[in-house]
Amino acid sequence: MRTIQWKDGKVILIDQLKLPTELNYIECKNPNRIAKAIKVLEIRGAPAIGIAAAMALALTANNSKTKNKEELFNQLEIMAKQLEMTRPTAVNLFWAVERVLKKARSVVGTTDDIKEAVVKEAVTMADEDIQKNETMGKHGANLLEDGDVVGTICNAGWLATAGEYGTALGVIKVAHEQGKKISVIALETRPVLQGARLTAWELKHDGIDVKVIPDGAIGYCFYKGMIDKFLCGADRIVVLNNCSVINKIGTHTVSLAAKYYHIPFYAVAPLSTFDFKHNLKEIRIEMRNEMEVTEINGKRIVPAKVKAINPAFDITPPSLVTAIITEKGIIYPPFKDSLLKMASSPE
Ligand code: MRU
Repeated sequence: MRTIQWKDGKVILIDQLKLPTELNYIECKNPNRIAKAIKVLEIRGAPAIGIAAAMALALTANNSKTKNKEELFNQLEIMAKQLEMTRPTAVNLFWAVERVLKKARSVVGTTDDIKEAVVKEAVTMADEDIQKNETMGKHGANLLEDGDVVGTICNAGWLATAGEYGTALGVIKVAHEQGKKISVIALETRPVLQGARLTAWELKHDGIDVKVIPDGAIGYCFYKGMIDKFLCGADRIVVLNNCSVINKIGTHTVSLAAKYYHIPFYAVAPLSTFDFKHNLKEIRIEMRNEMEVTEINGKRIVPAKVKAINPAFDITPPSLVTAIITEKGIIYPPFKDSLLKMASSPE
């Protein structure tokens, strides 16, 4: 299954707001439609947001009529800025935009050559994303044993990437393909319910046993010994802060409870999710509309005039993370040193 793909000069993506009741596709003919899809969460999840941004730039190039290179670069840069304003936290978005712009600038040739190279780059990035996730899944699956019950938060599955595997759920999927019996406890993930709607749908679709719990039930489940390991994805791993893990709101609370109950807590993320440039103080945690908290299905549940606070992500300090699974291998604390060692070692 592909979450997003390039098809005959258009971008087709799964409408994640319609899941689990309907599996609908959105056909994007212009890049602004993709920017909107990212903003309203029709497509979401850090790697998928990155690929969507790359595809939006591919559409910008493909739709452009100009024969002037500087004008084409200008059009790409304007779109890049617009994309970068959609969601501030997932670093994959910025990584993808930078990679495509760099590719465009590196082409020696005509505007047609640049347009072709940009489209090819976006399609390659989607394919690479899937390959990396499969590799990451293989590394991570070594940590799972037959019979494990794995907890997870939000949706870090193939819906959150270009398709096929996913990050945290990719590990589970590979272990499942290896014949291990793995079952999953998915946090519903208030307020947008990516766990209840998307993770449950995706795992059911893939034939993996899944149960959904209210977010507040995680402590009880750990206390009762119902969960053996916890796997989460990441929107940004902040290398300068020893690989602090920014992920869906609630992740930090889970990590604290996991530490107390000695449950291994793993983050699963490709290297495109690692931020080597910024520290925590420089990173913006997305604050979303209060209505996501004050309303359910368009019906207000909080008394009128009472305000809500709706941060989309939180920060898990490295001391609460057992290991980080990447496509290059698994790193253990101290993460920054292990990461630099892994990055400099031959394959
Ligand atoms: O707000 P979302 O749904 O985009 O948040 C997604 C997450 O927090 C995921 O855990 C993260 O992006 C990793 S997905 C492979």
